[in-house]
Amino acid sequence: MAPTRLIYASTRTDQSAAALDAIFDVSRAYNLRDDITGALIVSDKHYVQLLEGNRSLISQCMMRIAHDSRHTEIELIAVNLVPHRLFARWSLHRIETPTLEARTLEPFLIDGAFQPKLMPQLAIEDLCRVLSSEAD
Ligand SMILES: Cc1cc2nc3c(=O)[nH]c(=O)nc-3n(C[C@H](O)[C@H](O)[C@H](O)COP(=O)(O)O)c2cc1C
Repeated sequence: MAPTRLIYASTRTDQSAAALDAIFDVSRAYNLRDDITGALIVSDKHYVQLLEGNRSLISQCMMRIAHDSRHTEIELIAVNLVPHRLFARWSLHRIETPTLEARTLEPFLIDGAFQPKLMPQLAIEDLCRVLSSEAD
């Protein structure tokens, strides 16, 4: 079956660098185990995550994520079958928006700010396409 791509955005509740490192460590281990690949985009206030893999394993992963108190107000943006993975080589690619070049993010800003919960699915997928091509 074609891979399933899931995208959601959420609000950070724990802004510490230690929390972020811990999220990436544990998440990458689970994702490697489950052949899930993807990216987690981190801004000062929000997470946007794109996950790709087996539909059943992606569902279980999303259940784990939903129960994590380090974020809140999770909004599902997309769940689709896709022909191929965008971040096929990354168990969880780490992208922090302050480290991106201004010209990369600029086309995706709303009222001058990165507001993933206001972005349509296609805009988020476009941003992920740009980021995945930079990652390769
Ligand atoms: C923003 C965010 C992204 C996460 N991404 C993943 C992920 O990609 N894969 C995963 O297994 N867990 C992810 N987690 C961690 C899970 O929510 C959970 O803490 C972890 O899987 C441990 O689950 P366990 O206590 O059942 O072992 C994420 C958590 C947060 C807050």
